[in-house]
Order: sequence, then C-alpha cells, then structure tokens
Amino acid sequence: MALTKDVLACALALAFALGCSRSKESTPSEAHSSEAAKDAPKAKRDGFTIGLSQCNLGEPWRVQMNADITEAARKLPNVRLVAKDAQNDSLRQRAQVEELANQGVDVLIVSPKEAAPLTKPVAEVFQKGIPVIVLDREVEGDQFTSFIGGDNQRIGREAGKWAAKALGGKGEIVELEGLMTSTPGQDRHSGFAEGLALGSNPGLKIVFTADMQWLEPNARREMESALAAHPGISLVYAHNDPGAHGAYLAAKAAGREGKIKFVGIDALPHEGVQYVKSGILDATFTYPTGGAEAVQLAKDILDGKAPPKRITLGTRIYTRDNVERGGEEIR
Ligand code: FRU
Repeated sequence: MALTKDVLACALALAFALGCSRSKESTPSEAHSSEAAKDAPKAKRDGFTIGLSQCNLGEPWRVQMNADITEAARKLPNVRLVAKDAQNDSLRQRAQVEELANQGVDVLIVSPKEAAPLTKPVAEVFQKGIPVIVLDREVEGDQFTSFIGGDNQRIGREAGKWAAKALGGKGEIVELEGLMTSTPGQDRHSGFAEGLALGSNPGLKIVFTADMQWLEPNARREMESALAAHPGISLVYAHNDPGAHGAYLAAKAAGREGKIKFVGIDALPHEGVQYVKSGILDATFTYPTGGAEAVQLAKDILDGKAPPKRITLGTRIYTRDNVERGGEEIR
C-alpha cells in the first residue's frame, strides 16, 4: 500500500519534472532547490516554488487533485512544485508542512487530513510570512491566507433533498460518513440532515450511521453490519463515491442491491459518473478538486494581488436521467 503511494507520488513528481524541463530555465534538479526560491524577488517574479502537502493519495479524487495542480503549475513559466504525501497520517502531515516551510517554498498549498492537528502547523507557516492556501478540508480559525473548496454543507443538503424526493418521503436510510474529524464529513452530515427535513418527512428514518473515514473497504464492512441489522434499507448516502461503491458491493453480495438506491459525492468522470452510467450509483455530486484554482491564486498572491479569504466552488448533480447529458449544475 505504502509502496503504491510512493510510486504514485514519484510518478507525479516525474511528470512534473518533465513538464518543467521543457520550460526555459528550470531543470528537474532546480525544481527541488530551495536556493532558487530564496533568491527570487518577492513580488512580480516570473517563477516561484509551490510546496504541496497532500493528506493522502489513496483515493482517485486526491490523485486527480495532484494532477490538476501539476498541470496548472506546468502551464506557468518556471514554477517549481515540491509535493509531499502524508499517507493519511496527521502527524506525518504536520512534519511535512514544517519541512516544506523550512525548505523555503514561496507558497504552501495544504489539503489537511484533519482540522485540529493541522491548525497549529499551518498557522506557524502563515505567521512566518509564507502565504498558505488551504484546499478542500479546513483548519480551525483564520491563520491562513485563503481557503478554496466546494460547499460541503450545500452538497449534503442537495443530497438530502434528492434522497427525500427519490424515496417519495418514505424509507430507511443508511449514512456512511467521511472522517468526522475532517470538515467535509461534518458538513456533508449536517447538510444532509437539513435537506432530508425529517421534521416534515416523518416517513424517512436514518436507521444506521457509521464513520467509514472516506475509505471504501470500511464502507463495505459497515454496510455488511447495516444489512444484517436492517432488512428494509432503501437508500445509502455515502459521503464520497468510494464509500457508496463499497456499500453497493456489500449489498450486491447480499443480493439486495436492486432494492437500494446509492448516493455518493465526488463525481470524477472515471469514477462516480461512470458508476451512475453503469447503474451502480443513482446519484453523485461533483466535488471539484480546486487544484487549478489554487495554483492561479498562488500566482496572484505572489504577484501582489489581495487574495480573497474564501473561494467557494460549485457543484453538479449526476443521476441516471441526466448523466448522458453531462449532469446538471446546481444553482
Ligand atoms: C479523498 C476524499 C474525497 C472527498 C474528499 C473530502 O480523500 O475522501 O473522496 O470528497 O476527500 O475531503
């Protein structure tokens, strides 16, 4: 497992180094040189170093985020990227954030695993004067430059509204939560409750809830327990598509997948959207990676533009009815 992640991280680093070597001044070895970063002028520079602290590269969505960042950085002249993968370990991520700052990156992009343990290291980098862009999952407080991410509360709410409607106001629901010490898990949960509006939909009931920590194997295991305890499950809401897929596999193994609707979040073209097309999921919602936006913002900040504190990205819904048309934007 760790080996696979290292290989992935290397592949991304290599892909980036190759991209860099095509631009005029940078070579792969310079791409990791802290000296180059230190010597660069502070404003209006035509090149800079981005440090990227990624919480893990275990899910396709995170691999996509790194690819989006790599691609956006490659398009800018003489931008170097130093990427680290914390392999789903908050302590390791904390150390990597410190390491990147000590290497003298010009800007740090961080997608934290969990809010609380990453708050202090992120604040320390920010207080040193290095701009910090927090991406997708949040930290506590305001000691960072900007946050970029999807509106998880809203996505959860739309999922709840969709579920209530699809069930005609009556049915037993399983909720498989993302890591509840990460902000998307918390927001996708509270948004869903709001969207379901149990107060005015008394026929709906959440019969089973578990934290699958964003991981497909955990979701599958939790769903096995849910199936064993509840013979009448009619819908599964999982906080991401890997979770919804894990739940589907458990239901299929029990011969019950045909009676249950599966809803997920992420909607990668080759993952969630594909699941909807092939009839595995009933709905999924886009959760944009924000990778390209983060690189653009990094450049803007270093060009001296005042950064917004928060950039909220939009979403689309994909269902069996609209998937062939490319889904629908949620306004
Ligand atoms: C990947 C992931 C995505 C999810 C996001 C939330 O690690 O679990 O599936 O949408 O993180 O931060």
